[in-house]
Amino acid sequence: MDQLVLDSKTWLLVLTGAGVSAESGVPTFRGMDGLWENHPIEDVASPQGFTKDPTLVWRFYSQRRAGASAVKPNPGHDALVAWERHLGDRFLLATQNVDGLHRRAGSQRVVEMHGNLFKTRCSKCSRAPFEDTTVYPEGTVPTCDSCGGRLRPHIVWFGEYLDPADMQRIEDFALRGSTSGGRFVFLAAGTSGLVYPAAGIVNHVSEAGGETWLVNLDPAQNTSKFDNVITGKSGEVLPKLAKLV
Ligand SMILES: NC(=O)c1ccc[n+]([C@@H]2O[C@H](COP(=O)([O-])OP(=O)(O)OC[C@H]3O[C@@H](n4cnc5c(N)ncnc54)[C@H](O)[C@@H]3O)[C@@H](O)[C@H]2O)c1
Ligand SMILES: [Zn+2]
Repeated sequence: MDQLVLDSKTWLLVLTGAGVSAESGVPTFRGMDGLWENHPIEDVASPQGFTKDPTLVWRFYSQRRAGASAVKPNPGHDALVAWERHLGDRFLLATQNVDGLHRRAGSQRVVEMHGNLFKTRCSKCSRAPFEDTTVYPEGTVPTCDSCGGRLRPHIVWFGEYLDPADMQRIEDFALRGSTSGGRFVFLAAGTSGLVYPAAGIVNHVSEAGGETWLVNLDPAQNTSKFDNVITGKSGEVLPKLAKLV
């Protein structure tokens, strides 16, 4: 296996997806087969689904909270923590995962592009999203203390926009890395390359002259766009991949 050398001239942007949490026991999106307890994913992960049946949506996210609280980060998460400690501000982790496992493992420079399972916000007023680990009892739809509106999970659902500040942070990092005079590397792990804009990052990095790596169990939709492709489990590949010099 080729080694990824991380030296004092390297800037590294990492993108992770559901596959990185699979070895912790969190099902991937594809593992759900497009259905959850026989409900189409859109019913539990879109604004229309929430309007139609908020009770069902809260049941889904309460169960996912319970599931994510019960699992632990795996060696793939730990490897990324070690890389960040080595690179400092020359490291940024953009994750599509909402399970919070990267932060629990110790990652600090993290952009949670699709939100966080353990945060809630109001669907009506502009009150800031807040930490919320509550597993609501079956049939509950929590309401806002400020306006009485329905609370909702702080998750980017199908058909919703990502936070522009998050995208800006990733773009700023990529610009600094690719104009640093050093080496700019992008590594994607455990992501199917189907969900945009995350799936398009590899194109931007290549255009900017960066080096690209993919670590995935199955071929991703955008595999051909990467310079280096390693097929395997992130929990096994990542701990051995980097040479910290
Ligand atoms: N853990 C989570 O927070 C979680 C879980 C499911 C879905 N989601 C959401 O669903 C969407 C799904 O997109 P996605 O691309 O992240 O996931 P995905 O489920 O579409 O794809 C996962 C990819 O990971 C690969 N994979 C599976 N096990 C792996 C392993 N052990 N090591 C390396 N690769 C492995 C698969 O081959 C697949 O290509 C995202 O928007 C994400 O926010 C999040
Ligand atoms: Zn409110």
